Amino acid sequence: MGFTISKMDYRSYVVGVDTPVLLRSGEKVRGINFDNAATTPPFVKVLEAINEFAPYYSSIHRGGGYKAKISSEKYEEARKTVLGFVGGDEKRDVVIFVQNATAAINKVAHRLAQQAEEYISNGLKNNNSKNKEKWIVLSTSMEHHSNDLPWRNNYEVKYIEVDECGRLKFDDLKNKLEKYKGLVKLVTVTGASNVTGYINPVHSIAEWAHKYGAKILVDGSQLIPHAPFDMKPYASNKHIDFVVFSAHKMYAPFGVGVLIGPKDFFVHGDPDYSGGGTVKAVTHEQVIWNDPPFKDEAGTPNLMGVIALTAAINTLKQIGMKRIEKHEKALTGQLIQGLKNIDSIELYCTEEENQERVGIVPFNMKGVSYKQLAEILAQEAGIAVRSGCFCAHPYVQRLLKVPPDKVNKVMQNPDGFKPGMVRVSFGLYNDHGEVARFLEVLQEIGKHRWHYLKLYNNYHQSA
Ligand SMILES: Cc1ncc(COP(=O)(O)O)c(C=O)c1O
Repeated sequence: MGFTISKMDYRSYVVGVDTPVLLRSGEKVRGINFDNAATTPPFVKVLEAINEFAPYYSSIHRGGGYKAKISSEKYEEARKTVLGFVGGDEKRDVVIFVQNATAAINKVAHRLAQQAEEYISNGLKNNNSKNKEKWIVLSTSMEHHSNDLPWRNNYEVKYIEVDECGRLKFDDLKNKLEKYKGLVKLVTVTGASNVTGYINPVHSIAEWAHKYGAKILVDGSQLIPHAPFDMKPYASNKHIDFVVFSAHKMYAPFGVGVLIGPKDFFVHGDPDYSGGGTVKAVTHEQVIWNDPPFKDEAGTPNLMGVIALTAAINTLKQIGMKRIEKHEKALTGQLIQGLKNIDSIELYCTEEENQERVGIVPFNMKGVSYKQLAEILAQEAGIAVRSGCFCAHPYVQRLLKVPPDKVNKVMQNPDGFKPGMVRVSFGLYNDHGEVARFLEVLQEIGKHRWHYLKLYNNYHQSA
């Protein structure tokens, strides 16, 4: 796989990229952050936007003052910016601000469960036996726990399988849609995996889901910050019904998540959280809910978080999502090529060049556990990576081909050692020099494993 060196320098866009970090030796070096799938540092423009707006910060929606009016306008304008960024439909879709992607998915799960309950109780009332079956949500075997666990209690969840490389099996999607025809109400799938970086063909999945009368939810947490994304017009059967993502993974780490979905869906039913701002009128006996999105944003909204998100989106648009995608792809190419040249490194199906992926690469080093390697990288070279199972245990078990008896053992001793991996995940500010340095350090650790493992043991003995 070839790679081209990108000439763009995005480092100046991001706060803290040159911050020195402390090594075990006591020396301070410029840190390398390869853990951007977990969270990203803020854009300079995000901090500037917060500072510029701070003098006008006030309560929104119900305040009568000048600043309250400006605050309310900014907050409502932000919905348009967000919707435009992902190609949502202004007439049909609603943007709901929540805490993070996890809260957004839980919100959809809660509301859909109410509809499922209503459907069944109507069936019982009308003695319609067809209405008694539990609704099915089709998730996949490559989801983050946040797009798996929220569905489990209220629906029957079926998982679309992945192949030995961890890629979604499209045929299994089609088979399951056919097998559970009429019962599948939602297909929920990640836009890009937080473990392998694989990008799913969400518009083709949408086409199939719609063909069978189901809606589609795309978990955009790992895709929206790294590549262009388009929900497509409602009239198209490739349209994406629901999208969720987190601002803290797109350079605006101030506690906002986004849920976009059809307004109609949220008009119906009760919100998961109720309280201030969610109602039009209340007596002790009765509540008349407000219209979406207000009904679903209980309490005082996170205005500063939304200001930050807007600034982040404007910065991403200014740089250009296509350029970001190209730059991160080039880094990924360089990394994979370099990792292949290190004997001690175990990669997972990276020869699949036709598989679209964002800048996420999982691997292991022979003879060194993922936990040891991550700590050695931090302590000896100031390089931050993630290690473990990345909140995607079932997927990692599949990728590592962990046999069922070993999985059972983990379940019996959940605090014990779990098979896992090390993950590199790029942000737009990472550069080719950092990747080269990382490869050099890995090469050195691989060559002198015993020395580094001894150091690792020393950290823990002296701790
Ligand atoms: C694919 C994916 N979905 C969902 C989430 C959850 O995001 P948050 O913790 O911001 O709710 C993550 C977080 O890493 C993720 O990678």
